[in-house]
Amino acid sequence: MNQLLLISTMLIASSVAFANEEGKELHEESCITCHMVEHDDDFYTRDNSRLHNHFDLRRQVSNCVSVFSIDWFPDEEKSVVDHLNNEHYKFKK
Ligand code: HEC
Repeated sequence: MNQLLLISTMLIASSVAFANEEGKELHEESCITCHMVEHDDDFYTRDNSRLHNHFDLRRQVSNCVSVFSIDWFPDEEKSVVDHLNNEHYKFKK
């Protein structure tokens, strides 16, 4: 586990491209149970999405992270926000 943390930290430090790759992995690790298995990829772009801008997205990710007690650093949370935004939402920052 410590090794994983170390690796994540190095990835965050090294580059934006890696941060995105990391966001994808973190998301697969902690979020997929609810958002991709029971629903599917389209969950994030469903018609009645409550998210309308980048602020909403950050707030919702933050909610899910804290409500479900996922132990992430702010950097990790941010890389998942970036990942979801690049892949699905395409909100302007
Ligand atoms: C235990 C189940 C669960 C887990 C784990 C979970 N979520 Fe959620 N998430 C939900 C539910 C339920 C909603 C719908 C909330 C609503 O619409 O009121 C939601 C909504 C969202 C939305 C908004 C979707 C939209 O467009 O309306 C985002 C983004 C999101 N979650 C991100 C995440 C991220 C990132 C993680 C991983 C840290 C995560 N969630 C983990 C249950 C979960």
